[in-house]
Amino acid sequence: MKKPLPIVLDTDPGVDDFFCLAMLCAFPEEFSLRAVTTIGGNNSTEVTTKNALDILALFGKDAPVYPGADHFTEEEFGEPVVFAHGHNGLADVTLSASKREPEKEKAWDALYQIAKEENGELVVVTVGPQTNLALALLKYPSLKTKIRKIVMMGGTLGTGNISPYAEANVGNDAIASRVIFESGIPVDMIGLDTTRQCKVSLEEFEEMSEKTDPLIREIMRRMITFRKGEAMHDAAAFSTLLDPEIVSWKTGTIHVETETPLKKGRTTICETPQGIHRAAYEPRRERYKEVFGRMLERYPVK
Ligand code: RIB
Ligand code: CA
Repeated sequence: MKKPLPIVLDTDPGVDDFFCLAMLCAFPEEFSLRAVTTIGGNNSTEVTTKNALDILALFGKDAPVYPGADHFTEEEFGEPVVFAHGHNGLADVTLSASKREPEKEKAWDALYQIAKEENGELVVVTVGPQTNLALALLKYPSLKTKIRKIVMMGGTLGTGNISPYAEANVGNDAIASRVIFESGIPVDMIGLDTTRQCKVSLEEFEEMSEKTDPLIREIMRRMITFRKGEAMHDAAAFSTLLDPEIVSWKTGTIHVETETPLKKGRTTICETPQGIHRAAYEPRRERYKEVFGRMLERYPVK
């Protein structure tokens, strides 16, 4: 039998982070969730850490949650992104509070420790600003030899969402993302231009979720309604680990602009067969929908 892929998820929950966690927790035969590390961006790290614990409790997982940085590499966090995630980061839906507390150890130390334990097999999935992973790579230079691959929601080969050029996860801490792309670790970048096209409408969701647990169904319904058609970017990026053909891939070297203020956070790929980076493009929405449906089936009416 295939061994589940060991994963650390670095996240800033976040409505679309919620759906990413739903997907990750739904397939234990595929993924071994070693830890969740948190970062702010959508909200403060205190709030995103609590959200991570509450989401894990909802999906019946007890992976440890390690809090990360409380500011970006060079800047403070901005105000909570209320229009996309609500005041509480979860579309103003209140989840039952987890009985667990966050771990005392910080995200970057936990990342290094887990990577060592996994002997080069660990996949780090980042669906928020990449500050924690950059801090880990700077503090522990040998970490770059211990991570199998980074899968990230972030960047864009098209237009951005915090500027014409930059997507939020990369643009909010472009210096951190540059550390990641220059680390020598293989990266799969699923950018905004691609995730934007992976949508499941409310009508489709209603049809697909008839056999889903009523509480989970209602929470998801409220979140999808809140988003008003905005894609669940983080789940779309994560779904490529379940079906890599949800997208096509360009192979090459990805560059993050950190110097020119107007274009800060812009991601571009120079295509070359020797490259260790891949950038997703041409999403196949129907295939994404199929994975989303399989996820819903994993939370059946009890
Ligand atoms: O730009 C989309 C990304 O920014 C998503 O990860 C979302 O959760 C926010 O963090
Ligand atoms: Ca996110």
